[in-house]
Amino acid sequence: MRVNRRGFIKVLAAGGGGTFVPGLFPACSDRASEAFLAWSGPGPVTAERDPRWIALCYAILAANPHNTQPWLVELLEDQAFDLYVDPSRLLPRTDPRFRQTHIGQGSFLENADLAARQLGYRAEIEYFPLGSYGESVVEPKPVARVRLLADPSIERDPLFAFLLERESNKRVYDGSPLRAAELRALGRACDSSDYPLALVDSPVQVEPLAELMWRAMEVEVADVQRNRETLEWFRFDSREIELHRDGFGVAQTGMSGPMKWIAESFFLSRERSQADPGSFASEAVKLTARQASSAPAYGWITSTANTRLDQVRVGRAYQRMNLAATAHGLAIGPMTQVLEEYPAMSALRQEFLEIAQVPPGHTVQMLFRLGRAQPVAHTPRRPVADLIRA
Ligand SMILES: Cc1cc2nc3c(=O)[nH]c(=O)nc-3n(C[C@H](O)[C@H](O)[C@H](O)COP(=O)(O)O)c2cc1C
Repeated sequence: MRVNRRGFIKVLAAGGGGTFVPGLFPACSDRASEAFLAWSGPGPVTAERDPRWIALCYAILAANPHNTQPWLVELLEDQAFDLYVDPSRLLPRTDPRFRQTHIGQGSFLENADLAARQLGYRAEIEYFPLGSYGESVVEPKPVARVRLLADPSIERDPLFAFLLERESNKRVYDGSPLRAAELRALGRACDSSDYPLALVDSPVQVEPLAELMWRAMEVEVADVQRNRETLEWFRFDSREIELHRDGFGVAQTGMSGPMKWIAESFFLSRERSQADPGSFASEAVKLTARQASSAPAYGWITSTANTRLDQVRVGRAYQRMNLAATAHGLAIGPMTQVLEEYPAMSALRQEFLEIAQVPPGHTVQMLFRLGRAQPVAHTPRRPVADLIRA
């Protein structure tokens, strides 16, 4: 079958719906077995199991850019481990200052902390124990040293209950508004005087933001190298998911069952997208426009400075926001193209900062939409053992 862009758009537009013809797609499955095992959790907690391993089983479920899972762990004595950025899992084209990668370190640490508490351990987290590094490099120094100390008095956190359910929902949302009580609860979950959270839900605020989102995607995909980077982490079918156990694909936009099978079999493939990156890019812009305009609310987290430590701590705050949205049955999805730091995005980023009334010199670290939608399939994860550095 030849690639037919119209047909592909129709398939995307249908999302998870459509008519299923029994027997026509017998081997159609949304879940490649091994790649999703992590979402079942580490199983029963027994005295023989290393609490670090259990904490790491939850930590790897954190939000992270393009699901590159940019984490390396070195086990130390005394129930400790060091967390490093994995230099082989960076996004130099879309995240040239590796800021998003450091946000993903913070989300990992937040999950580890929540899990440690649940196990009755205090996670003592020392950030950059060997010193930090500059804003445009990654050095082979730990981002954090985490030591687990048994502490029967440690408080459990109710957000722990949502670690296995949390997701970034890339669907088109149903458009229904958020209730004031829901917005207040989200505000409380992410409450930090260091990293202020803004939430907006009136159409006059939301509409210009939604427009900026697809314009930013248009800028991102205008560059062949940036497109190539995204394609590198896009997983076109179950075989790729099973092989790599990272990245993301059409399942995260809500496509499932026969529609997903049709899209993957006839309209989407690595070969076609590489041969004709323009069509992959233009579909990305169209989908972004639909995603962005379907969201009744947006939120962002700001920092006054923009050090590596700020980025990591914002990652922790965002992970809590994501978990709180899950706890309230809300869909949440980052949309961060407009924050990207290459020159072509500067003008649009400035436009966003003005619309969002961000004080001069402050950095918006995380930007996301909120709404209501059916859950999507989880993204895959590599096993914890793959992250452990000898
Ligand atoms: C710093 C950061 C930036 C992100 N930016 C985007 C984005 O622009 N668009 C998007 O759809 N998802 C974005 N995400 C979500 C990731 O794609 C998602 O976390 C990853 O694929 C893992 O999936 P999960 O969160 O469902 O476990 C971002 C996540 C992080 C931590």
